[in-house]
Amino acid sequence: MIVPLTKPFLDRNEEEAVVKVLRSGWHTQGPQVEILEKEFCAYTKVKHAVAVSSCTTGLYLSLLIAGIGKHDEVLVPSFTFIATVNVIVQAGAVPVFVEVDRNSFNIDPNQLEKKITKKTKSIIVVDQVGNPCDLDRVKKIARKHGLFIIQDAACSLGSLYKNKRIGGLADVTCFSFHPRKVISSGEGGMITTNIKSIAQQAKILRTHGASISDYKRHNTIKITAESYSVAGFNYRLTDIQAAIVIAQMKKLPSIIKKRTYLANRYTNFLASIRSIRTPYTPSYAIPNWQSYIITLLPGASLLQEELMQKLLDRGIVTRRGVMACHLEPYYKNSIRNCSLPITEMLTKNTVTLPLFPELTVKQQDYVIGSLKLLLK
Ligand SMILES: Cc1ncc(COP(=O)(O)O)c(C=O)c1O
Repeated sequence: MIVPLTKPFLDRNEEEAVVKVLRSGWHTQGPQVEILEKEFCAYTKVKHAVAVSSCTTGLYLSLLIAGIGKHDEVLVPSFTFIATVNVIVQAGAVPVFVEVDRNSFNIDPNQLEKKITKKTKSIIVVDQVGNPCDLDRVKKIARKHGLFIIQDAACSLGSLYKNKRIGGLADVTCFSFHPRKVISSGEGGMITTNIKSIAQQAKILRTHGASISDYKRHNTIKITAESYSVAGFNYRLTDIQAAIVIAQMKKLPSIIKKRTYLANRYTNFLASIRSIRTPYTPSYAIPNWQSYIITLLPGASLLQEELMQKLLDRGIVTRRGVMACHLEPYYKNSIRNCSLPITEMLTKNTVTLPLFPELTVKQQDYVIGSLKLLLK
């Protein structure tokens, strides 16, 4: 039996939506992007949503708009996908790694304050694998020190923090529509914020710095010329992608419901394996189960890679839980003497199991049975 790690959940709705856009004659950022942004605001209960080409470009624009640049320090977990940290370097600033909590996998608010210096300007928090970080505790510290909070919500669309949807809780929040996320358009991202000036700047920067978008200009009855007062980028989402995301958003509640059902099933059936820890959900959080990660405990009969290889030999695809950026050559060479024992322990001992809406109970039972057999 082959069990993939993940599979985007698409059907005729997405196909028909794409065909419609292709035939419409308007392919890049246009009417579909506008509809998506409105629907995204309604879903995340936020005032402004700005579609961009990826979460990475959204994070990068957020830093630029916040005025983060040369010699500024940005606090960030190392236990995250490398994009979260790369954007800090690309903005010319310095990432300062903060330890995570061993249970939630998210930035440990107790570790934050000791890393703050006169150069600290911002914090990028991550909702790792869809589990919301403890934002209120982070906010308290950020307010005290005047720090700008960017929430990397690449994984957490639809997750709840204290019964509120992720999206309008930090200064800026960035989402991803990459295929490993709960909804996918191949590539794509969204910036959300309640601060109007941030949304305005993001809209200008994503399309070369133009004062007015092509679509808006096209819809005017008077000849209108745009002007360029900043050097911007092409970080646009296409209308083809936006149409897919609109169709995917309609499925989002059922996607999360199915993921939750399967995650609970894993947790129930894996409870008898003493050498692993199943995921922890803080009392303030309802995750979207973007990923399901087990942690191998000391004394487990197999190491992470051995277990992953044996599962792959049985047709089951897994991945290590989350990378530790400070151990990757670029950061190892540029940031010396960085020791993050919990991050290092987690990256060496976590394994992501297959989880996606169309995972069948038979496939999941095969994964569970294989883990029981291999880790007995
Ligand atoms: C935590 C985190 N941040 C950022 C990204 C980057 O997202 P994108 O591929 O949309 O740029 C990812 C994607 O894997 C991620 O997991």
